[in-house]
Order: sequence, then C-alpha cells, then structure tokens
Amino acid sequence: MGQETPKVKQTRNNSLAVIDNRTGKQYSVPITHNSIPATFFKSIRAPAGPDGRPEDETERGLRVADRGFLNTAVIESAITYIDGERGILRYRGYPIEQLAENSTFLECAYLLIYGALPTRSQLSHFEREVLLHGIMHADATKFFGSFRYDAHPMAMLTSAFGYLGSYYEEANPSLQGQTLFTKCAKGDPEALQNMDKQIYRLIGKATTLAAMAYRVRQGREFVVPPTGMSYTESFLYQLDHLSPTDSFSASVSASSSPSPYKPHPVLARALDVLFILHADHEMNASSTTVLQTGSSLPDPYSAVAAGCASLYGPLHGGANEAVIRMLVAIGSPDNVPGFLAAVKRREKVLSGFGHRVYKTSDPRSFIIRKIANDVFAVTGPDPLLDTAMALHDAALKDDYFVSRKLAPNVDFWSGLIYRAMGFPMDFFPVLFVVPRVVGWVAHWRQMMLSPEGVKIWRPRQIYVGPSERSYVSFDEREAVQGPGKEPSAVVHSGMAKRRRLAEVGSLATGVKSKL
Ligand code: CMC
Repeated sequence: MGQETPKVKQTRNNSLAVIDNRTGKQYSVPITHNSIPATFFKSIRAPAGPDGRPEDETERGLRVADRGFLNTAVIESAITYIDGERGILRYRGYPIEQLAENSTFLECAYLLIYGALPTRSQLSHFEREVLLHGIMHADATKFFGSFRYDAHPMAMLTSAFGYLGSYYEEANPSLQGQTLFTKCAKGDPEALQNMDKQIYRLIGKATTLAAMAYRVRQGREFVVPPTGMSYTESFLYQLDHLSPTDSFSASVSASSSPSPYKPHPVLARALDVLFILHADHEMNASSTTVLQTGSSLPDPYSAVAAGCASLYGPLHGGANEAVIRMLVAIGSPDNVPGFLAAVKRREKVLSGFGHRVYKTSDPRSFIIRKIANDVFAVTGPDPLLDTAMALHDAALKDDYFVSRKLAPNVDFWSGLIYRAMGFPMDFFPVLFVVPRVVGWVAHWRQMMLSPEGVKIWRPRQIYVGPSERSYVSFDEREAVQGPGKEPSAVVHSGMAKRRRLAEVGSLATGVKSKL
C-alpha cells in the first residue's frame, strides 16, 4: 500500500505545495510558465537519518535528479516550439510547413537568429554577408590535406570548426575579455557587430568547410565559393564543380577560365527545403552541447565544434547514415519481419524511429516524403525505397512500436534522398550539420543576449561511490578483477607483433635487444 498523502489546504494560486515528510515542513514552490525552479529545492533540508551517507548531503538541501534531461528545462527560449504530442514544429511561431513551402534557408536563418521575417533589403544584406564570408584562408588546404586518406568527413568537419576559431582573435573572450559577447545584452553596437560577423562567418564557412571535407576524399582541388548563387546552390557548386585544373575538367577543356556550372534547380531547392527542416529543433543534444560549452564563454567556433561532435552520434544526427546502413543490411522487403523481430528482442535498433519529444510522426517527415518524390523524379528512385516502405509500414502496424509511440523521424527519409542525390553515406551527418549551425548560433546568441547574463552550466550529480577510505599499500591490496574492473588486454595489430618479435639495437655497438 502506498503512503498516505497528507491533506494540504486547497488554495488556488500559481504555486506547488510540497510537504517534506522527513521533517513535516511545508513549502510553497512558485510556478512560472508551468515550471518550477529546481534551485528552490535546495532550501528543503533535513537532518541526515541514521542510515544516511554524508555524500547524500541531506542537510544541504534536496537535489533534483533527471538522468538524460527527461524533464528539465535548461533555458527560456523564444526560438523554436515543438508540441510532440500533436506533431507541431514552429520557428519563431511560424509553422514549419509554411516555411518549407514559401521560405528559403537563409530567410529562415534570419528568422531563427534575429526573431522576425526580414524585409527584402534586410534579407539581401544578410545573404550578401553570409555568402561573402564563405571564403576560407588558403592555409585551410594544408589543414584538410593533413587528414588520413579515409578520414570520416565528420571528424574533419568537427576539427575544422575548432581550427576556424584560430583565425579570429577578435572573437575569443579569453583574449579580448570575458564580456566580449555578453555585453551585447546591453545593446553595445560594437559588440553586436563583432558577434554578427562571427555568425556570418560560421554560416558562410559551414558550406565551404563541408565541401572541403568532401573534396579532399575525392582527390579534387578546392573551389572558391561562387558569387550570384543561393546558399544551397553555392554549396552544390562547391561540392561538384570541376575547376579547369581538376583532372577530368582539364581533359575536356584546355581553357583556364572558370566554366559555368549551375546545379539542377530541383536538387538545389530540395536541399534548401531539407536545410530549412534541419535548421533548428530547440533543445536537442547538439544545441544543448553548444550552450553547455558556450556557457563557459569560449569563442563561438569552439562551441560549434562541440555541437558538431554531439550531432555525429547515431542517436542524433548520425541516424541518417545509420538508417541507410540498416536498410542495406536488411537487404530486401522479405527480410523486414525478421529484422523487426530482432529489434523487439533488443538485438537491433530501428534507426530513424522514435524521438524524445515527438510521440507521433515527426512533422518534418511528411515534408521530406514530398521532397523525396521531387528528387526521385529527377534522379530515379533509390533501390532501397521498397525496403524502407516495407519497414515503415510494418513498424507502424506493430504493437511494440505503436504502444511505445515510436514513429518515423526526420532521419528515416532524409538518407534516401541524400543517397539518390549521390552523396556518400558518411557525408549525410555533414548535410545535417551545415543547416544546424544556424540553430546553434541562434541559441548561442540568445544566451549571450540574456538580460540576466550567462550562468555557467554546471549540473549536479548523485554520488553513489565509496565513502571516504584510506590509501592501501601494494602489499596489503586485494586485486579487484574482472571485465570492466581492470584495463583490458587488447589485440595488437600484426605490425605491433612483428615489431615485438624483431631485434633492435645499434649497428655501431652491436648491442641488440628485444623490444
Ligand atoms: N527502436 C526500437 N526501440 C526503441 C527505439 C527504436 N528506434 N526508440 C525507442 N525505443 C524503445 C526503447 O527501447 C524504450 O523501450 P522500453 O520502454 O521497453 O525500454 C522506449 O522505446 C522508449 O525509448 P527511450 O529510449 O526511453 O527514448 P529516448 O527518448 O530516450 O530516445 C531516441 C530517443 C531518438 C534516442 C530513440 O528513440 C532512438 O534511439 N531512436 C533511433 C535513433 C534515431 O533515429 N535518432 C534520430 C532522432 S531524430 C533526429 C535527431 O534528433 O537528430
């Protein structure tokens, strides 16, 4: 039987009445925007009981435990709203469906970052600045050339954002003073100008760095971002345009003047809409990482590099790559029932399904299916489409997924479009990062402009490890052994084995030894 709940006198106001049954004390916790401040609970103290551990810090106030941020609001935000039960996504109040239909990526970027739809002249100023800032320093050629021949593009891109920060001393609070960006909250025009410049650079150079990560593996020279194109056209140009000195191009044209290159309009528009859909998604793992990192006030390039690393995981932006790997492994619609049975036995994961917030279909997935049709009409359908459809339909009829409210998310379909457009699988997360840079900078800027200032994000933990104990000398220790309890013995490569077996030493002295 559950414990009897003490009767609390009913008074209707915006507060929560809490009784601490350890002390009998009653507290009134204020409710704002249907949320309670976790810090309030610090004032709820009790004497440690006879079995209490000092590490529980019972006398120093109650802690709020929330593994994985399941119900913790870390910021007040005016950027993006999601209603996961009703499948609603809005940027600054505008429904995603309307933006996908009518807007462009850079217009949405303006909206997300600055809060309102721009006028024509505001938009053209913003577009000009972003596209102008796409050009990279020539040294970046050496940087990208230093990666291993088969480096994952996400490893290159994550490093590239950190590298980018090394160029801009004026954007580094460690060098310029820690109020460099927070003084923007007071409307300091110079500080705002400096912040905007970093925003133009980050968005402008995201395509350039991504294209460099792509071309280095194709063995192609890098191209300078073109002029007179939209953001996504420019990106496709930077990925695909063959300059006169590229081997293929050189064989077809001896001229050194740049050849005209215009990406296919359907593919450019499809990518633009995909970029709109991926631009922001409120407190997802990578945006939270950008804010967490940004809260200790490093330069924004370091914060974006951290976000990029977070996005790469297969539970987040790496899911688009994981979906295609999964579909390839399933192979054909006939194998779908067996695959779903393995998912239900928890031996496999159905990538592209499920979401922390959406408990119905992700609204972006409907828009993406429409874009997929447009793209397939130009490129031809992807051979994995039948398997994807069979998997989708079977999962939506299966009680395991229905009862857990697991529905397709944005990543279920996006990978099929990217594949049809000819992108390599490991480039898919990069195609997520480029537009998400906008969301990251929008959140970072909002935090820097906060009138209350920036608080370092320093969460708490519940310590469950050993209480204080004294150091034990080697002779008195008992070995703690077993998998996970001591460093593993690892398998060495053939090369390491050969080296261990070899004899080394100085030829001059004739002294030999085993390595
Ligand atoms: N396949 C099979 N079972 C699943 C899946 C899935 N894709 N997703 C959730 N579940 C199960 C989970 O095992 C749990 O079952 P039970 O209650 O019996 O233990 C239940 O559903 C609730 O899931 P959860 O793990 O508590 O959900 P979460 O909010 O912690 O995780 C998620 C959300 C997106 C990480 C998870 O659904 C998942 O791993 N999905 C596959 C990866 C994926 O597609 N990620 C892209 C997300 S959308 C775009 C983005 O954010 O980048």
